[in-house]
Amino acid sequence: MKLASLPRVPLATLPTPLHYAERLSVALGGPQIWFKRDDLTGFGMGGNKIRKLEFLAADALAQDADTLVTGAGPQSNHVRATMAVAAQLGLKGVAVLHGSRPPETQGNLLLDELFGAEIIFTNNPDRAQLDARIEAEAERLRQEGRRPYVIGRGGASSLGSTGYVAASLELLTQLVAQNLQLDYLICATGSCGTQTGLLVGAAWLQPGYQVLGVTVSRPRQECLTRIEKLAQETITLLGLNLIVSPAEIKVNDDYIGPGYGIPTPACVEAIRLVAQTEGIMLDPVYSGKAMAGLIDLIRRGEINQQHKVLFLHTGGAPSLFAYQPALSRPQ
Ligand SMILES: Cc1ncc(COP(=O)(O)O)c(C=O)c1O
Repeated sequence: MKLASLPRVPLATLPTPLHYAERLSVALGGPQIWFKRDDLTGFGMGGNKIRKLEFLAADALAQDADTLVTGAGPQSNHVRATMAVAAQLGLKGVAVLHGSRPPETQGNLLLDELFGAEIIFTNNPDRAQLDARIEAEAERLRQEGRRPYVIGRGGASSLGSTGYVAASLELLTQLVAQNLQLDYLICATGSCGTQTGLLVGAAWLQPGYQVLGVTVSRPRQECLTRIEKLAQETITLLGLNLIVSPAEIKVNDDYIGPGYGIPTPACVEAIRLVAQTEGIMLDPVYSGKAMAGLIDLIRRGEINQQHKVLFLHTGGAPSLFAYQPALSRPQ
């Protein structure tokens, strides 16, 4: 097992707290719900991406890179976290964002600017074209004499997923200390790296909970295919002798709504409920939709009073401010 020997830049404040959400559990009249507060990983305004970047940034330094290049939408938490890491390590940060510059520089986009990133808009709304553009910008940087390190969208690589294999060990240590046996671990799934790491971690540590991803963008089948492949790559990277069988990969795509980054009424309800029962901020793109999924599964009785559930809070609150029209209460 190579987890302990992989190069890692310490960025996150760990372990993140395990919080029993008593008032939310009562409000939903269902299972006992805990939050794993990965919104509080701390660095660069936190979130799940910091755990992935500990391994990815170490690899960039090992390759003597002087620039981190990545891309996504203007409100990407992954891009913001990567630009924060670039600043911390004294590297140039280049953010390739699909679409055109929004009228207001808010939320994560504002933070990208504050972290000193070079920001490039593709002026093309097609997310599928982004990977090629990221590569093209990396090539441009090479021509300029720089040494770019490309981090693929979402940091979804075996190295990135390793962050959540390590997180699984951290979580198990907390569960053992609290004598807590969970039935489900629920998370938001985007590029699939987080869920993959959690699944590999569960296959390795056998904590007895089922990992359930609520996808916020890709259809279920696409997630299943990506996770199966990425899990195998992560297992190989870590030198583990185990398999994540397709039957263990559970992804629910019922809560995407009209599309990625478009908050649904259930997502807005979930954000308000968690804010008003626990004082915890979810986000309108990822954790709000994942919580909308958990709430619905409870209301439909699929997750019930007998169950103990962990909600992995993957962060994302900086984007709240860019979604003010969708979120503020009608006056
Ligand atoms: C707040 C938040 N939650 C969840 C996710 C999904 O994680 P992954 O891309 O590893 O599936 C992301 C990805 O950007 C995110 O920013």
